[in-house]
Amino acid sequence: MSLAIPRKGLENDDVLDRLSSFRADDTDWRAGRTWSLVYHAGDEHSDLLKKAHALYFSENGLNPMAFRSLRRMEAEIIRMTATMLNAGKEAVGTLTSGGTESLLLAVKTYRDRARANKPWLRRPELVAPRTIHAAVDKACHYFGVRPRYADLGPDYRVDPEAMQKLVNRRTVMLLASAPQYPHGVVDPIERIGSLAAETRLPFHVDACFGGFVLPWLEKAGYDVPVWDFRVDGVTSISADLHKYGFAAKGASSIIYRDMGYMRHQFFVSTDWPGGIYVSPTIPGTRPGGPIAAAWASLMSMGQDGYVERSRLAMQTAEALREGIKKLPGVALVCEADAPVVAWMADDEGLDVFVIADRMGARGWEVGRQQHPSCVHMTVNANQAPIVERYLSDLADAVSYAREHPEAGRKGDAALYGMMAKVPFRGLVKQSVLEVMERMYAPDAFDVPDLERVGGSKESGLVLRLVDRYGDDLMTALDQASELRRRVTKLLRSRLSQ
Ligand SMILES: Cc1ncc(COP(=O)(O)O)c(C=O)c1O
Repeated sequence: MSLAIPRKGLENDDVLDRLSSFRADDTDWRAGRTWSLVYHAGDEHSDLLKKAHALYFSENGLNPMAFRSLRRMEAEIIRMTATMLNAGKEAVGTLTSGGTESLLLAVKTYRDRARANKPWLRRPELVAPRTIHAAVDKACHYFGVRPRYADLGPDYRVDPEAMQKLVNRRTVMLLASAPQYPHGVVDPIERIGSLAAETRLPFHVDACFGGFVLPWLEKAGYDVPVWDFRVDGVTSISADLHKYGFAAKGASSIIYRDMGYMRHQFFVSTDWPGGIYVSPTIPGTRPGGPIAAAWASLMSMGQDGYVERSRLAMQTAEALREGIKKLPGVALVCEADAPVVAWMADDEGLDVFVIADRMGARGWEVGRQQHPSCVHMTVNANQAPIVERYLSDLADAVSYAREHPEAGRKGDAALYGMMAKVPFRGLVKQSVLEVMERMYAPDAFDVPDLERVGGSKESGLVLRLVDRYGDDLMTALDQASELRRRVTKLLRSRLSQ
């Protein structure tokens, strides 16, 4: 398929009409049926963000000498965020394009710090909870650091002793989350802070998700464990403005206790013919729009606005949790510290992914998770009006799943079920990579239909297995995982005797 830039440019109205029409098949986030992809604080707030963004549409933070305004806004945002996180006067930081960039930088910074302090160190490692965001895995992949993941306790918070056991002379940093994304619980930051202090390791808290909600929930009177710079061992925190900070997309922050840590984040190239090149973060060009919109968001929401929206988000999450607790067949995975709900199937033979598919068919965006198989919801204040509808659709979906146990052997439910259970993770990875190759193939203009991918010759082994042997294989995998669960339980009880 050949596609070229039109020889003669289209009329502006025509361009905009076409753009609007592309959205027809997108998720309708305005209806409140989308969790976590869009953080919306009302149309008035969005209009302000758009205007602020447009004011700095052309400006480029690459050269702060040319655009002092952007450097000033960045500095003010960092100071306000540091104050919110109870940092001291020495705290410093930078804005980034998102949570992933903040985490990439945290890993790069501490790897480089270790290289500077211990030049003999080869094969650096980091220690983090199993639930740390996948961007840390990505950072390890990019920067040649080996991740060592610690197991969780029964409340889904990381077990600090398990972390301690993984620390060795190659360890360059510790990480934990406030809260972790999958289930919304805050890791035991104080205990990990003590471990960091004892081992003299830097400790990054990933609060990309909760950094702009936990401080306000604490102010609103909720019982939030202490997790920020008040904990001595914490050396840096990432907090996303484009999540519960309600800024425009493209804005996160990373704050360090002092410059001694942050200096390892900067990059300087001295011999390039284009001149001496300095870069504080990963990109070169740094768009002005998201910086201006983030500044506008903080100034217009104000502390009172954040407290109010956080309280309403939490109340909405609580209403959903109460409804789910009363519904036979489903149960909460755990009690979250943030406006997050994670639910799972709770009856023998009831498949969570069948319930999920049914909810998807009703127009709900569904966050399917694994280990354990469950569904994630990030809750916001604008979802207060949809609580009843969600719960009644969930009740119907549970009844459907009870009546149709065979549905777990078909479609997305089978695919996700299998992906979660297959013990050979390399196979899963290969299959997913093949889906990506299809999505980004030269003739691909849409996302591939997973079921069709599963049926094609070129598709990965896991998808082919689902397609051919779905039923038998699923039963075998269920038995294998039950066996593994029993053996692990037995071993654990023997070891603890
Ligand atoms: C805890 C946590 N960290 C990091 C990220 C990554 O953020 P982003 O998607 O903005 O790159 C997320 C995203 O949901 C998150 O929940």
